[in-house]
Amino acid sequence: MPTDFAFEMATSSVRFGWGVTREIGLDLADHGLRRALVITDPWVARMRPAATVLESLRDNGIEYALYDQVRVEPTDESWKHAIAFASNQEFDAIIAVGGGSALDTAKAVNLYVAYPPEDFLDYVNPPIGKGKPVPGPLKPLFAVPTTAGTGSETTGVAIFDMSAMHAKTGIANRRLRPTLGYLDPENTETLPPQVAASAGLDVLSHAIESFTAIPYDTRPLPDRPMLRPAYQGSNPISDVWSLQALRMVAEYLPRVYDDPTDREARQNMILASSFAGVGFGNAGCHLPHGMSYPVSGMVKTFRMPGYVVDHPMVPHGVSVILNAPAVFRFTAVANPERHLQAAAALGAKVEGVSASDAGKVLADRITWFMRRVGVPNGLKAAGYSTADIPKLVEGTLPQHRVTKLSPRAAGAEDLAGLFADAMQAW
Ligand SMILES: [Fe+2]
Repeated sequence: MPTDFAFEMATSSVRFGWGVTREIGLDLADHGLRRALVITDPWVARMRPAATVLESLRDNGIEYALYDQVRVEPTDESWKHAIAFASNQEFDAIIAVGGGSALDTAKAVNLYVAYPPEDFLDYVNPPIGKGKPVPGPLKPLFAVPTTAGTGSETTGVAIFDMSAMHAKTGIANRRLRPTLGYLDPENTETLPPQVAASAGLDVLSHAIESFTAIPYDTRPLPDRPMLRPAYQGSNPISDVWSLQALRMVAEYLPRVYDDPTDREARQNMILASSFAGVGFGNAGCHLPHGMSYPVSGMVKTFRMPGYVVDHPMVPHGVSVILNAPAVFRFTAVANPERHLQAAAALGAKVEGVSASDAGKVLADRITWFMRRVGVPNGLKAAGYSTADIPKLVEGTLPQHRVTKLSPRAAGAEDLAGLFADAMQAW
């Protein structure tokens, strides 16, 4: 099969600065937009970032409708709820305020209201959905992230939990990308340390996964350029962003965890999140994310301190990082040099380390950060047992979009071994 010869960098515009959220009303006015649909979750709705957005809209004569029922870790039902609300509104722009859940829900609303599908799963990634392309341009979407993690403001990916299947899946298309992301460190001020930790570990894993993904020119050649996936494999431009994101996380994640008032650390984590977003938004994630989807989908009773939600939940960053050490011990053999470069960017000593130890050195460094910011010691501590492994494997196998980017192919048996290894982290 011929392999691809090209990669494409697509990024959203972002604007960084303390207080840039206050500019949003002016931006809409300057775009000639008159009525916004503001999408957020019930918790953020009561916090300063949402209040700042609404005030800026009022000050600039922009009308708005507010939807504040986004579910943290959204599901197909919660998406449908938001889409139904939006379908009864008139609006010419969407503003998403919140974490990845609010941003992803807004992307879905934008698509489903503009081009209602015959079946809800038409646009959803195969094999769960049909993976139909987005038919045309969408309304302008302005993203105001309030966590420094998902990088969703830079990507064309929206993730949800398909409740009936207990598995996460999503929609990936460049047209879902926000028009502008507001990287405003003022908005992460109220982040509890555990939320900052989970989001920061998500950044860390985005960066390592995109840096260690298969090279873009080893993927199959698409029939036409439009079919080239957003997740293309590692490439020289993504590499720069991913490595720099790792250096920043290494320096600032422990600081932001220890002291949420540390302005320099907050500012750099929101930048690192976006840097990694540019990296993984074009290169892609692989096994830690693929395996995280059934982990979060199959949550039983686990609740992470610091999260104000009314349902058991493994936060996204935690569900990802719990798998990461096991994965990189497994994948390092495919490209030990890259695993060592990632470990070095995270501050590990790699001089004189042999290629055969690359996976261990990177995994140990990740584990060091996990302990440092207080995440559970492996899947067992988050409520899973070895009896869950067959179901976890079953939930990972359909995640082709990401798992096929793993530098080392992982079949069902390999995945079972990885989940077993991830039961205890240290
Ligand atoms: Fe992620």
